[in-house]
Amino acid sequence: MLDPSLRQRLQQTKNITVFTGAGISAESGIPTFRERFTGLWANTDPQEVATPEAFRADPQRVWDWHVHLAGTVRRAAPNAGHRAIARLQEAVGRVTVITQNIDDLHHAAGSRDVLELHGNLFRLAPFVDEEALFAGERGPLICHLCGGYALRDDCDPYAGREDLACLRLEAGPVPRCPACGALLRPDIVWFGEPLDPHVLGAAFEAADACDALICVGSSLEVEPAASIPYRAIRRGAVVIEINPAPTSLTEHADAGIQGNASAVLPELFREVWG
Ligand code: APR
Repeated sequence: MLDPSLRQRLQQTKNITVFTGAGISAESGIPTFRERFTGLWANTDPQEVATPEAFRADPQRVWDWHVHLAGTVRRAAPNAGHRAIARLQEAVGRVTVITQNIDDLHHAAGSRDVLELHGNLFRLAPFVDEEALFAGERGPLICHLCGGYALRDDCDPYAGREDLACLRLEAGPVPRCPACGALLRPDIVWFGEPLDPHVLGAAFEAADACDALICVGSSLEVEPAASIPYRAIRRGAVVIEINPAPTSLTEHADAGIQGNASAVLPELFREVWG
């Protein structure tokens, strides 16, 4: 699969970053975003379901769309690609997994310390209506329970964490924080929203410090995530891409392996690390 000199360089690496996108979960039955006919954005305009403006305009519609997606994701199980990455963490000294996926399948496969750049579909967070805040419609009273801007001045100081933990992404009316009344939403990054600076910072550090980066199943069309493999290239790391289709990274990588993640990853790791 690799030429012998590249295999040897990989064998000498001590710090590996694996960077994944929707393609790694495609064989678990979760649609990717941008594939022409099957991608989520082929049938739905992301501006209508995956932006804070869409949620502000019609919270129930956006909630229902995510409930539907969560149904597909809950039925999915990690595939051989996710499992190979988890095994690599056991076999090689230091492996950081950075994912753009919100499906939790790296954790389910047993990977530790996964940096979820775009959040996690199964966590809820308060919806922070910045437009209302900037318009001065209410002051920035922070709710101690959900951490959002409280809707009510009498934000309940006795509400307990378990009140929030029992709320899930499931069919029904959009839930509200039991303490302050703020609408809750999936804790993921929608278009136009910033990434969590701590997670992004940790991902940049991992890309800068690694001596090999393996990029799996991403079209690399969304920034700032897309810049991560290029940071590793600039630092002189070995970069391998696994994707059935070429991307902007392919010509810059040390190897572009065309194929499906679930077949290529186990074979690649066996070839290099035994
Ligand atoms: N194995 C590996 N790669 C695959 C496979 C597979 N079995 N099947 C498809 N791919 C590749 C496609 O060729 C494509 O390059 O996965 C890539 C998926 O690209 P996108 O759908 O654009 O997904 P991703 O790059 O993860 O999108 C980034 O966009 O909408 C946002 O927030 C969303 O995190 C997502 C971000």
